[in-house]
Amino acid sequence: MSSTEQTQHTGEPQRISTVELGNNGPLVGVQGLGCMGMSWAYGPTDADEARATLERGLELGVTLYDTADAYAAGENEKFLAPFLKAHRDEVVLATKFALGVDPSDPTKRIINNDPAYIRACIDASLQRLGVDTIDLYYMHRRDVNVPIEETVGVMAELVAAGKVKHLGLSEVTGGELRAAQAVHPIAALQSEWSLFSRDIEKEVVPTAAELGVALVPYSPLGRGFLTGSFVSADKELDPDDFRRQQPRFTGDNAAANAALLEPVRQVAAAHGASLGQIALAWVQQQSQAFGLPVVPIPGTRKRSRIEENAAATRITLTDDELALVAPIASQVAGNRYADMTFTSAGRE
Ligand SMILES: NC(=O)c1ccc[n+]([C@@H]2O[C@H](COP(=O)([O-])OP(=O)(O)OC[C@H]3O[C@@H](n4cnc5c(N)ncnc54)[C@H](OP(=O)(O)O)[C@@H]3O)[C@@H](O)[C@H]2O)c1
Repeated sequence: MSSTEQTQHTGEPQRISTVELGNNGPLVGVQGLGCMGMSWAYGPTDADEARATLERGLELGVTLYDTADAYAAGENEKFLAPFLKAHRDEVVLATKFALGVDPSDPTKRIINNDPAYIRACIDASLQRLGVDTIDLYYMHRRDVNVPIEETVGVMAELVAAGKVKHLGLSEVTGGELRAAQAVHPIAALQSEWSLFSRDIEKEVVPTAAELGVALVPYSPLGRGFLTGSFVSADKELDPDDFRRQQPRFTGDNAAANAALLEPVRQVAAAHGASLGQIALAWVQQQSQAFGLPVVPIPGTRKRSRIEENAAATRITLTDDELALVAPIASQVAGNRYADMTFTSAGRE
């Protein structure tokens, strides 16, 4: 399947199918769009092309647009505002609170789940985005000093106040998800999930399936590494590119991990697809394996790539192909973050 797959009569690419986002959540395209890279983390952006990518997503049936107040300190939310003004009813808008960058050291993160902070965050996000309501509001990271019941209680107040429609959590454990769900229905859990990052399959994904919570895999392309577009972050990417801080993309780990893509290459050749499309098809297919809705949010700033990524929703891997790529994750050298205490894996 190629990025130029067209319907016979209209010349337009096919629209992707839809799925309910869990616990009476909104109907969304089975693949969403990560908007972070449009303002942050992955080097310089062509703003016009990024805006065109937002528009192209809707034409393809991509409706779940993902941002956070942390992305470029609110600039990513502001970047989305004109697009939202034009398309508010077509977009299922997701943003997040709880994560900040330490002003004295941009490599360090600050996590805050305090009730007063959350109440301030929602108003600031609504203002930057230029909207009255957020469709899906996530706790981006868990502050272990604040009981999750208290945090979700404050989030539920935001639903009651009409500022938020549905609740989500990011990088929480299965136990934390269960505790949260007892306070208010959780529509979606967003965590890293890809051919390279499968730690959530042990506890988090089965708990989400049991509770009717959808999984929204972030970095489903392994931050671009699974597409084969770069190997060594420290040699190939910009000095301030976030991936230079990630152990698996640097030094000796990077070359060793690039070699792990060989089976993905074989599967891609069999489908006439790209490596990235196989990575996306694999994570999407985990929906059947675990019995829950899975809506990956690959990030791209380019129209050609959102077309390629959306086309991956129509690829199905055979059992043999699934078996071929299954051993990859356990062989990956280096963690997905330099500081794993910010992830659910550090608390399971
Ligand atoms: N909850 C969390 O803690 C958390 C953490 C990280 C990310 N996120 C969210 O998840 C979204 C996706 O994750 P991510 O952006 O980190 O990683 P990703 O989706 O795995 O990969 C994004 C990278 O892949 C490149 N790419 C995309 N499509 C491609 C294609 N078809 N061929 C080649 N390269 C391609 C992008 O470059 P171009 O942009 O140049 O195409 C970008 O560098 C983010 O945008 C953000 O909204 C959430």
